[in-house]
Amino acid sequence: MKLWRGGRLATLAGERGWGLVDDGALLVDGGRLLWVGPSAELPEQAAGAEVVELGGALVTPGLVDCHTHLVYGGNRADEFERRLHGESYADIAKAGGGIRSTVAATRAASEAELLAAARKRALALVHEGVTTLEVKSGYGLDLATEARMLRVARRLAELGVDVRTTCLAAHALPPEFSAADDYIDAVCAWLPRLQAEGLVDAVDAFCEHIAFSPAQVARVFDTARRLGLPVKLHAEQLSDQGGAALAASCGALSCDHLEYLSPAGVHAMAQAGTVAVLLPGAFYALKETRLPPVEALREAGVPIAIATDHNPGSSPTLSPLLMLNMACVLFGLTPEEALRGMTVNGARALGLRDRGQLVAGQRADFCIWDGGHPRELAACFGHNPLIERVSQGVQGGP
Ligand code: NIG
Ligand code: FE
Repeated sequence: MKLWRGGRLATLAGERGWGLVDDGALLVDGGRLLWVGPSAELPEQAAGAEVVELGGALVTPGLVDCHTHLVYGGNRADEFERRLHGESYADIAKAGGGIRSTVAATRAASEAELLAAARKRALALVHEGVTTLEVKSGYGLDLATEARMLRVARRLAELGVDVRTTCLAAHALPPEFSAADDYIDAVCAWLPRLQAEGLVDAVDAFCEHIAFSPAQVARVFDTARRLGLPVKLHAEQLSDQGGAALAASCGALSCDHLEYLSPAGVHAMAQAGTVAVLLPGAFYALKETRLPPVEALREAGVPIAIATDHNPGSSPTLSPLLMLNMACVLFGLTPEEALRGMTVNGARALGLRDRGQLVAGQRADFCIWDGGHPRELAACFGHNPLIERVSQGVQGGP
């Protein structure tokens, strides 16, 4: 048993508020939080526990990055330059660049090369406090390479981070297919095989005019649901395709991006309890001007999550803390909404209810920060105040 005491806890307990506990303590046993509260009210069980003094440091739940494309070959800095010269993300994709250019580089990379590159990226996230990390496939677009990406994603767990894998084979049409419907048939045939290898925790798709139609996404989701796999969707990023309403009707865990989400989409997500994952890094990097409908999401009671969306094209960031700041400055979230978005609501977007708040019974995943108030995490940018990360009660990291 281990006891951390003398810290300022932002527990995020309950539905709103920071849940601050000054001079707070966390009692941990078997990787779980056994007790959380004021140091002065420690339960008897705490006697004999190994003690760590927090010295007044700030403690929050560990960060949950619920949307990343962390495994890939190559990079797309050339496309960054092209966009600076006026080409749009969609223009570059239609000309054969974008996702397809990363597909070529990923197919050409060995598993060891993909792992070495992904490890470095995952370490950057871990060093800013990430304790749960979602990683998508979607740059293989053939069975062997999708499997390779997902195996690499699973191996990132070696860094002391809990990894959830998402199959995003329906990300773009690979060059060897001319008909999107034929490719969707192939994806539906791959899913049970990838699942049988233990590589898939959820299924995602890209619903967009440069990717797949709602009818095509529906076929992927039907297959996923028959396999008992939860679904999520890249929806309404560049245009309103009605993807969010479709995903919600399939009980999706989350819809992600959502700049072009309609009122009907908001309503459908609220009815289904689907989480809205907002991705300020992609909004910023693509110089998007259309804002996600944050106020409508709030009013409808749709939980909002925030993630890095790390990928080589639209969001090449490895800073979850910068995303907290951008969620506030660009999208108008409060610092508390932003932190909830990258903890408890990020977990919810992955279907995980056992983390994201510092309350008894949850996983002992938390971050110790050099700071006094949790709002400082969103207020600063380009600065990492992490002192230590604790994952399932284990201090330190790779
Ligand atoms: O989340 N929108 C689709 N997928 C990614 C970008 C992928 C890429 O450009 O490589 C996203 O923004
Ligand atoms: Fe994405």
